[in-house]
Amino acid sequence: MDVIPGPAYAHRYGTDFWELGPGTGLAVGEGAEPAARWLRSTLGAATGLPLAPASAHGDDVIRLSVDPAAANSAAAESYQLAVTPKGAHLIGGGPAGLFWGAQTLRQLLGPAAFRRAPLPGGQWRLPLLHIQDAPRFRWRGLMLDVARHFMPKDGVLRYLDLMAAHKLNVLHFHLTDDQGWRVEIKRHPRLTEVGSWRARTKFGHRASPLWEEKPHGGYYTQDDIREIVAYAAERHIAVVPEIDVPGHSQAAIAAYPELGNTDVIDTTSLSVWDNWGISPNVLAPTDNTLRFYEGVFEELLELFPGEFVHLGGDECLKDQWRQSATAQARIKELGVGDEDGLQAWFVRHFDTWLSARGRRLIGWDEILEGGLAEGAAVSSWRGYEGGVTAARAGHDVVMCPEQQVYLDHRQADGPDEPVPIGYVRTLEDVYRFEPVPAELTAAEAAHVLGTQANLWTEVMEDHARVDYQAFPRLAAFAEVAWSALPAPAERDFAGFERRMTAHYRRLDALGVGYRPPTGPLPWQRRPGVLGRPIEGSPPNK
Ligand code: ACM
Repeated sequence: MDVIPGPAYAHRYGTDFWELGPGTGLAVGEGAEPAARWLRSTLGAATGLPLAPASAHGDDVIRLSVDPAAANSAAAESYQLAVTPKGAHLIGGGPAGLFWGAQTLRQLLGPAAFRRAPLPGGQWRLPLLHIQDAPRFRWRGLMLDVARHFMPKDGVLRYLDLMAAHKLNVLHFHLTDDQGWRVEIKRHPRLTEVGSWRARTKFGHRASPLWEEKPHGGYYTQDDIREIVAYAAERHIAVVPEIDVPGHSQAAIAAYPELGNTDVIDTTSLSVWDNWGISPNVLAPTDNTLRFYEGVFEELLELFPGEFVHLGGDECLKDQWRQSATAQARIKELGVGDEDGLQAWFVRHFDTWLSARGRRLIGWDEILEGGLAEGAAVSSWRGYEGGVTAARAGHDVVMCPEQQVYLDHRQADGPDEPVPIGYVRTLEDVYRFEPVPAELTAAEAAHVLGTQANLWTEVMEDHARVDYQAFPRLAAFAEVAWSALPAPAERDFAGFERRMTAHYRRLDALGVGYRPPTGPLPWQRRPGVLGRPIEGSPPNK
């Protein structure tokens, strides 16, 4: 059957198939309309079949229904699929489960079901089977960094489709960084007028002597964001926006110099950063900065209706705060001890602010330093440690350790990898990644909401490069996030690779520029670009 991610239970009856044809109907139960719409538009385009409305009682029908007992429960993402010689019945625990079941059904129809128009002579058949399936984790995420390299809106919509095809359900949208601000904020227009463009881009890793002398940038209008969020919601994907503060903020300071530490440097001389690494230019811990970002978040909450808002909080260099009389006076006035206490105060301010508006803050694991506000969740990226600490303290966590699931890191050790930064992390390494730290008790482990793979785009200048880094590893990651796999050493990687031979054909039909198992194709290589980490430096920077 070769379904990826693999279902919890699947049984095939013999070797026969049920064949779909022009007369095949779609019987749509209550709550099943959105999945029916998706099937009709997606499978309708690929197959050319009308999939006309039909009675649930006839033959030659795909029946779609939602189990009223399971909706709104933990089983809402579960589904069952039964295929008999007379038709198929797909039952979702909720509309989301039905949608995930529809993804399985599409995979079972073969690679041509992933095209946008029918090939001549297409044959559409489903194996006779019974599948029962449900996800292991409720947070199955992908972080997309659109700040380092902008991904135009069409690319984001395409990634939402690719996520849906792999049953991933959280897009962590890294919208701001030192190198670019990507979301329109109406009350602060310079954030995009100035902050969304940089004059040139470092080519290769941060110690490379090369720049591409070409302006780079772009941003999403608020209507673009509304479209992205709605498109995601139709696919049962939540979009978690990230505004990275108080570090990684040079683009915002270039747009509004008063946000920076003006008593340390002349912030009017700053531009959107054209280098990689961690900029020393961080936000000033002033009331003006707090009010400015409250304004940003007021607009964001209108655009992003989901539970979580990501506040970044990673890699905030404290040198300017140490030198700034304003920051030092603030530390004394607040009684927070030192610069780490000041960062914790900054994060807690927005935690309280977001909680008062019915939202939850999530941040990178640095937000644990200096004490984390109740209710806040943590993205554990510097290994497992932050996740362990947070879960033990009763905080929810999303596991995304850089050693395992930073997909910007190279996937082989050969000289042909394009801009080969970071650790070598192969398809098998990702397949054997275990999100739940072994040392947690069952009660602590219940705080692991799930896991996400992170795509930082310093060395991914367009969607072909993003595809290359993401795939095929994102398929392995999806199985880790969805399927209840055994312990890492016991996972059947050979079996996964066998199923991947079918999955590569699906990715081909979707037009995904994945890394072939035999290594990069000639056009995927970037000879001469510096990529390897510098001796003794963090591997991902
Ligand atoms: C991170 O990689 N700086 C979260």
